[in-house]
Amino acid sequence: MASSSSVRLLLLIVLVTIPASLSHTILQIPPNRHASEDRKLRADDNLFCDSWRFSVETNDAGTWDSIPSRCVGFVQDYMTGSRYASDSAAVANFSLAFGQAVKLGGDGKDAWVFDIDETLLSNLPYYEAHGFGSVTFDEEAFDEWVDLAEAPAIPASLNLYKGLQRLGFKIFLLTGRSEFQRNATVKNLLYSGYSDWERLLLRGPSDKGTLATEYKSKKRAELITEGYRLHGSSGDQWSDLSGFAVARRSFKLPNPMYYIA
Ligand SMILES: *[C@@H]1O[C@H](CO)[C@@H](O)[C@H](O)[C@H]1NC(C)=O
Ligand SMILES: *[C@@H]1O[C@H](CO)[C@@H](O)[C@H](O)[C@H]1NC(C)=O
Ligand SMILES: [Mg+2]
Repeated sequence: MASSSSVRLLLLIVLVTIPASLSHTILQIPPNRHASEDRKLRADDNLFCDSWRFSVETNDAGTWDSIPSRCVGFVQDYMTGSRYASDSAAVANFSLAFGQAVKLGGDGKDAWVFDIDETLLSNLPYYEAHGFGSVTFDEEAFDEWVDLAEAPAIPASLNLYKGLQRLGFKIFLLTGRSEFQRNATVKNLLYSGYSDWERLLLRGPSDKGTLATEYKSKKRAELITEGYRLHGSSGDQWSDLSGFAVARRSFKLPNPMYYIA
């Protein structure tokens, strides 16, 4: 234990070894009060950002451009800590439980639709380097990331995917990615453990410029016309799940980083 005289000696050494102007700045800050105010500020942000996250996940917030600047740390903690993994697992668990309760027709027409980005594959390595959704979306940089084909699987989604295949569902991948990204997308899906999907649907030339809700609804309607029964649909955006020709059950995965109309 340090005696008070040795503490005083240490303080004296510190004070004489740092420049006067700097020591003045340092000594003016009451350390304890500063730390507790910092904690209180963070608690306020935490509460605000948790409510913000609830509002964007439920779509109460509607359209939004980027995460509030005060929530960057919150989103970073959420995405990189255990919460994102746990929330994804909860969604996958409910999805699989629903899938298990479906009575399959045995005619190969029982289908499940998956979105890809932030549903099967995680672009977190990209977003970690781009402010977790706090900066304006850079399409060119993102396309370069897609070309690398190195996005990891969301572990819970990979389990769900394989579980649904074992149950006998036909898997349709319906993504907002474009046809020109087909090869990179296939490469990435295989690299991260996905295989044996029935069809991979990407945006073709005629789908350019249409809203995701419209494009995805149209594609689902085509599947229904082909005789597929869309039991479940999984996506991180409401535009993956809403519109028309919706599946019997929709499963919304978490994504507090970006919004696609
Ligand atoms: C999901 O299911 C697995 C396996 O049954 C279980 O271990 C895990 O706790 C569940 N996770 C959540 C978040 O429900
Ligand atoms: C995609 O891969 C196929 C088969 O490997 C190849 O024939 C085709 O040229 C590739 N397309 C592009 C745009 O790279
Ligand atoms: Mg997505």
